[in-house]
Amino acid sequence: MTSQFSLIATKDVIWVILLLLSLSTIGVLGENDGCPMWLAPSYTTTLSADFPKYGLFAGQAYKQDSILPFSELAIPLIDFFADFNRGKPHGSDVLEFLENYLWTQEKIGSMWEGVISAPGIIPGIGVLANYHSTYSNADFLQASILLRETKDDEFKKKPGEANLIRGAVTPYSNATLKATQHIPAGMEIFADFGEVWDGNLTENIYQDKIHRYDYNIADEIVNKMVDLYEKHPGLSLDMKEDIMDFMLQKVLTTVAGPNAKTINSLIPDNPRKLKKVQEAGGTFMYRYRDMIRTSEWLEENGFCLDTIRHGVSTIPNAGRGAFAARDIKEGEIITITPMVHIADKDLLTMYRIEFVENEENDTEEAEYDESEGPLGKQILLNYAFGHPESSMIFVPTGPQVTLINNGAKDANARVKWAESNDPMENPSSYLDLSVDDMAQVKESVLMMKVVAARDIGVGEEITINYGNSWQKAWDSYEEKWKITKEGKPHPLKAEDLRIMYKNKPLETPETIEDNPYPDDILTLCFLFTDERPDGKQMTNQEFGTEINQFVGPTKYEAYDSKSLYLVSVLDRMEAPGFFYNYTVRASLGDDEEEFADVVDVPHSACTFFDSHYSSDIHLEDAFRHPIGMPESLIPVSWRNLR
Ligand SMILES: *[C@@H]1O[C@H](CO)[C@@H](O)[C@H](O)[C@H]1NC(C)=O
Ligand SMILES: *[C@@H]1O[C@H](CO)[C@@H](O)[C@H](O)[C@H]1NC(C)=O
Ligand SMILES: *[C@@H]1O[C@H](CO)[C@@H](O)[C@H](O)[C@H]1NC(C)=O
Ligand SMILES: *[C@@H]1O[C@H](CO)[C@@H](O)[C@H](O)[C@H]1NC(C)=O
Repeated sequence: MTSQFSLIATKDVIWVILLLLSLSTIGVLGENDGCPMWLAPSYTTTLSADFPKYGLFAGQAYKQDSILPFSELAIPLIDFFADFNRGKPHGSDVLEFLENYLWTQEKIGSMWEGVISAPGIIPGIGVLANYHSTYSNADFLQASILLRETKDDEFKKKPGEANLIRGAVTPYSNATLKATQHIPAGMEIFADFGEVWDGNLTENIYQDKIHRYDYNIADEIVNKMVDLYEKHPGLSLDMKEDIMDFMLQKVLTTVAGPNAKTINSLIPDNPRKLKKVQEAGGTFMYRYRDMIRTSEWLEENGFCLDTIRHGVSTIPNAGRGAFAARDIKEGEIITITPMVHIADKDLLTMYRIEFVENEENDTEEAEYDESEGPLGKQILLNYAFGHPESSMIFVPTGPQVTLINNGAKDANARVKWAESNDPMENPSSYLDLSVDDMAQVKESVLMMKVVAARDIGVGEEITINYGNSWQKAWDSYEEKWKITKEGKPHPLKAEDLRIMYKNKPLETPETIEDNPYPDDILTLCFLFTDERPDGKQMTNQEFGTEINQFVGPTKYEAYDSKSLYLVSVLDRMEAPGFFYNYTVRASLGDDEEEFADVVDVPHSACTFFDSHYSSDIHLEDAFRHPIGMPESLIPVSWRNLR
């Protein structure tokens, strides 16, 4: 009796365990475990490495085309990659290191900032979305940053008026990643790095040597065979195997030639497994099923990015701010941030660049005239941490960390280096290296924590103390600004015109005299063109050039820098549903003779940019100072300016 009873009980227990197990599996694969995104060691790194490379992991499933958290600032480095910088102490090392962290000026829309180039660093999504040689699941939604809207309340600044914050912050905001395919929960975010990178297969053993095309062909074969089997449900397993052999041996060799062997290896031998490959999301995902991290793994090795949300700062003249997205307890880690070190802040000094013709080989070289003195400092300095006794500065690359403002003595958070007994290990040995040795370290090996100094309630602004040196610099900037600029007019900038012309047609040669644009404003349109659909050839009588037709799309999301052209508006007409349509003359290159006329360009496809050296970043006397690193965080070995 008793034993039978206990047997039933045991069965019940097993049943309950099984139920719990299946529930926990649902949890792992669930759509939402409350964490939007994790920061954790990348799949492309080894956990036992000296210092793992960090990446972003989806905390929930993201549908194809959905926007990923978190939109970020882009900070351009203007004319930074110039020979004169390479020649400075640590110049070539720092440039080589930083190059890995930058996005092209086209992605950001900063191509008119400098005369050489202006690639930018996008902390968070731009730095931490890693590269995988055969796989990507996210790409920048360029329209978000190219057509960003600056909300006046964000800066409390008015168009045409001087303001303290002008030139002190980067105007490039709303850099946004979009899922280019379904991203399951637990998957690392791999950004599309473009064709150039794809050409070079990396030496990293965690990177696949098989090309993306091979997976695509393998996927096609799998899909075809699954279709075939489904159309003929009567096929025996033997017959299925025969068909499969025939496809893989004969057909594939004919189609894929020398790659047939590789592709063959991506397809399971067993016909019954083909469906599983499809369900996994294709041959790549089937091969790398372990790429999807479980929530247990993420909790053990990662950090959930659920603490900060973006808002308008409560601090006067501070612009954007970081707000607590949930209650945070005293001593709790608010966020962690990998830091990119720059060995010498002097590399951020900017000069006016002149192009000097080299007669020997008929080339132009960018040079700067040191006697003219520096133009100013790169805007990146304002986002970096530094110390007056060290030439090193540190750029935080953790998501949303650049939003954290100065709370001075009332700050509710503080920064510290991650300790070595932490899962986010920070080998303290780097704190013993000299600045010269740190310059040779071309990986982001430093990790900082932002820790709550007291309880922080949901919705409260998160601040740290930027330190005395920063405060002094800001106070003297403010004092000078009050004397020289307060209450003075300020030229209208592209961002002002974008708002002014939202519901106002662009100017034409007939109207421009009465309504001139401010100086240094460029008009641009996103142009997708074709010959006229009615087949009628049209040419411009005066210039003999072809006239093209705008063929859309008129959707904001489709606009990227590849389709962006400098234009002059020739004519405009009211167009129901499109507000106004324009006939524009688009310049096709540096050569002023090369242009094309385009008709039916809708108002929504046109926008404004500031021309070279004219955005607020370039304001004379603009505020530039690094955020103060607390005294105790700068080891003696780094104090090379003492
Ligand atoms: C930022 O980008 C998103 C996605 O494209 C867009 O919906 C949003 O309006 C943009 N925000 C601003 C302030 O431009
Ligand atoms: C790819 O490799 C070639 C040859 O080694 C090199 O010249 C090129 O700069 C590399 N491209 C990238 C993006 O690393
Ligand atoms: C042209 O010549 C100068 C020195 O005479 C050299 O530094 C430069 O690299 C040359 N440029 C090209 C494109 O060969
Ligand atoms: C305005 O332009 C749009 C987009 O090219 C086109 O579809 C529409 O027909 C044009 N409307 C007029 C009145 O020209």
